[in-house]
Amino acid sequence: MLLNINNLSVNLGGLNILHDINLNVNDREIVVVVGANGAGKSTLMRTIIGLNKASSGTILFENKEINTLQSYERANLGISLVPEGRMLFSDMTVLENLQMGAYPYRKNPKRVKENLEKVFDLFPVLYKNQNRKSNTFSGGEQQMISIGRGLMGEPKLLMIDELSLGLAQKIIDLLLKTVQKLLLNNISVLMVEQNVRQALKIANRAYVLDNGSIVLSGSGEDLLNNDHVQKAYMGL
Ligand SMILES: Nc1ncnc2c1ncn2[C@@H]1O[C@H](COP(=O)(O)OP(=O)(O)OP(=O)(O)O)[C@@H](O)[C@H]1O
Ligand SMILES: [Mg+2]
Repeated sequence: MLLNINNLSVNLGGLNILHDINLNVNDREIVVVVGANGAGKSTLMRTIIGLNKASSGTILFENKEINTLQSYERANLGISLVPEGRMLFSDMTVLENLQMGAYPYRKNPKRVKENLEKVFDLFPVLYKNQNRKSNTFSGGEQQMISIGRGLMGEPKLLMIDELSLGLAQKIIDLLLKTVQKLLLNNISVLMVEQNVRQALKIANRAYVLDNGSIVLSGSGEDLLNNDHVQKAYMGL
């Protein structure tokens, strides 16, 4: 198993934000977390990468407990986060943003170049415009830069917080197809998504997070056909 979270609880500012979370990601899986605003989705991802602290429970990555590791150590093990809001260095070029993601092996120019080529293969528009500042790109293209930066860390697990937020349908389709392609390169994906129907369609498995607790889990198809999910998250 790639990621194995057991009875994880997280407190922030004196409040209990996540309660007793159990969640797994296997090799070559797309796992989606669905939940309303404020449910704790970002907190979960930030805790996995080490930006928030677990108050109890364990997080295992490839069977090794990572709770006490720093974020950069978790990144070195193969976990990347594409954060909510993309968080690009807006005054830096595409190339510079991508190079930031290569931090763990920055002294190996050959490896940096090989990974840049992989990102440019996925997103040719970035190759053509690699010397333009990131704040001159559309929202969808900025999301490509942010995903590209995540991939530059050579993740085994890529976490994406709100892939589609604010983007046009056409670009969402393209980004979701790209996410599916990652599995072919042995990268598993843990995604938080408000575009519930489309995300569940490509999910191997999914979890519903409600007010800090997992209230439902199953295959993407099970959840697509689930009454509660349809009513609460798909407006049916
Ligand atoms: N540093 C913090 N201190 C106290 N409370 C926090 C902190 N960060 C987040 N919270 C609270 O934790 C809860 C979960 O927030 P989180 O950002 O994880 O939700 P989310 O599911 O990602 O929401 P959204 O869909 O709006 O992105 C919210 O009630 C939020 O106000
Ligand atoms: Mg969030």
